Amino acid sequence: MLNEIWEKIDSEVELNKEELCYILSLEDPEKLEILYQKADKIRKKYVGDEVHLRGLIEFSNYCRNNCLYCGIRRDNKKVKRYRMEIDEIFETVLLASRLGYKTVVLQSGEDMYYTLNKLTELIKRIKDNIDIAITLSIGERSYEEYEKLYEAGADRYLMRFETSNPELYAKLHPDSSFENRINILKWLKQIGYQTGSGIMIGLPGQTIEDLAEDILMFKKLDLDMIGVGPYICHPDTPLAGNPSGTAEMTLKVIALTRIVTKNTHIPATTALATLRPEDGREKALMAGANVIMPNVTPMKYREHYTLYPNKICINESAQQCNLCIKRRIYSIGRVIGTDYGHSLKKRENS
Ligand code: SAM
Ligand code: FES
Repeated sequence: MLNEIWEKIDSEVELNKEELCYILSLEDPEKLEILYQKADKIRKKYVGDEVHLRGLIEFSNYCRNNCLYCGIRRDNKKVKRYRMEIDEIFETVLLASRLGYKTVVLQSGEDMYYTLNKLTELIKRIKDNIDIAITLSIGERSYEEYEKLYEAGADRYLMRFETSNPELYAKLHPDSSFENRINILKWLKQIGYQTGSGIMIGLPGQTIEDLAEDILMFKKLDLDMIGVGPYICHPDTPLAGNPSGTAEMTLKVIALTRIVTKNTHIPATTALATLRPEDGREKALMAGANVIMPNVTPMKYREHYTLYPNKICINESAQQCNLCIKRRIYSIGRVIGTDYGHSLKKRENS
């Protein structure tokens, strides 16, 4: 079976669920090395050697939701909550631009303090003054709000569907439905956003079959960006005591995601780097990934955006993360993207 799968990958024939499950079950390091090399070759062919840097600003850790896995869930009273004001967010975007980033990702919990008016004011101000692409990652809103935010100048939107298994999704998300998430992803594309989604690896109750379905779902949704990171167990959540996902399984899913979706943007996630600070990002970049999201959140807030414990870069400044990431990219013979790094599926937007 394995040789047949390798041949299918080489001749770019689509893999079915059974074949995806077979690869996801592989453990032999030599075979996995072959998988990563094949994903790396497809990455080079479809998205080239450039690694795109997206400056991440975690502007609020208030959240109205109670997702069972998440450290900033509404009921976690141990979190010190913070919000950045519009002026401070703008100044931070300016810093990201000075560091050379051509995209900022504005991320927060689902915090309705940021009304449509506040957000459109911010987006317009950024677009009028700074040459930078804007990605929003602020959770679920109405169709009209997504439309207005796009009209104000937001280019991209990130919202993970977390798992394609509707029962597992329902268990983990008391405040949102799987159907609604998928609908929102369709809206976002319809409105014109470059749309990203993704999953966590190793969620309690998640199976290999679920992961294979997740990968097929990436393809079906025709996403522009796909984030795949390990679930990391947080002690102050109802899932305390469960095992975290592994770096190995995360790398397998990243490689298969590249092989199946070809020209998408795939980040080497911070969660993976948290599991393997020494080489997690390099490994991901060599197994299909082509994006890194350096943190530019002001240092005083970083320790409070604790989705999971031991998050890296809590004590490094935006400048330090910038240098660290550049060094890592050059060390594996890759180059840094100098343009916006827009979706390769929507060249006309760039
Ligand atoms: N509120 C927005 C949303 O829900 O899309 C954006 C912020 S949310 C905290 C960003 C992502 O963090 C989620 O999509 C989830 O995959 C990830 N995340 C949350 N808790 C995590 C954990 N314990 N381990 C790994 N990733 C986690
Ligand atoms: Fe922040 Fe390496 S990316 S220290």
